[in-house]
Amino acid sequence: MATLLHIDSSPMGASSVSRHLSQTYVENWKKSHPGGRVITRDLTRSGLTAITAEWVAAAYTPEETRTQEQKALLAKSDELLAEVAAADELAIGVSMHNFNIPSVLKLWIDQVVRVGKTFAYVDGSPKGLLEGKKATLLVATGGKYGPGSGLEFLNFIEPYLKTLFGFIGITDVAFHTAGGASALNYGADRTEFLLPHEKAVAALAEARA
Ligand SMILES: Cc1cc2nc3c(=O)[nH]c(=O)nc-3n(C[C@H](O)[C@H](O)[C@H](O)COP(=O)(O)O)c2cc1C
Repeated sequence: MATLLHIDSSPMGASSVSRHLSQTYVENWKKSHPGGRVITRDLTRSGLTAITAEWVAAAYTPEETRTQEQKALLAKSDELLAEVAAADELAIGVSMHNFNIPSVLKLWIDQVVRVGKTFAYVDGSPKGLLEGKKATLLVATGGKYGPGSGLEFLNFIEPYLKTLFGFIGITDVAFHTAGGASALNYGADRTEFLLPHEKAVAALAEARA
């Protein structure tokens, strides 16, 4: 059964642009995958914490020799990894915070980029272990950082996430970015602002089906 892992990272609830666009992607994905399964992961309600020295030690301890305490330390990571493993595709809503991804998304990344699970060292070089999956990133930014803006260099989200997913073996990565969302704080009409992005996201979902 086709499975989509739908992840959100914006703290802004119903007013979030990235959540609206990730939901739009999911609705269109469902149309082209009748009977498909959607796993939902809201990173703002997942109680994720920063990794610690003990966590790293547990991750690098061979599975068969891990203590009960080490297994408990990795339990949340195991849960998140199971969701990734079950999915053929990831659709992730991403807000721009301080020119980069929200901290909860970084916490998730630290939990799922795990030696022996999503990457391994082969002849001394890292190799991504996830194969045949794709990721679609639905991004909202207050300013505009697209081609021709002259501010492309300030968008750390795209190069970072492309590199990150490539590192764990997901090389089929697509982005849709709704730039200029800060206009919504200054009276721009939400429906009018969202409409072209909804259309573009629907087309992207169809193209990736
Ligand atoms: C804490 C915080 C930091 C932000 N940092 C930036 C930024 O560095 N650059 C930018 O263009 N917009 C920035 N914004 C604006 C958001 O990117 C914009 O509101 C976008 O819509 C966020 O996505 P969301 O609506 O899904 O939460 C920031 C907003 C917040 C709340």
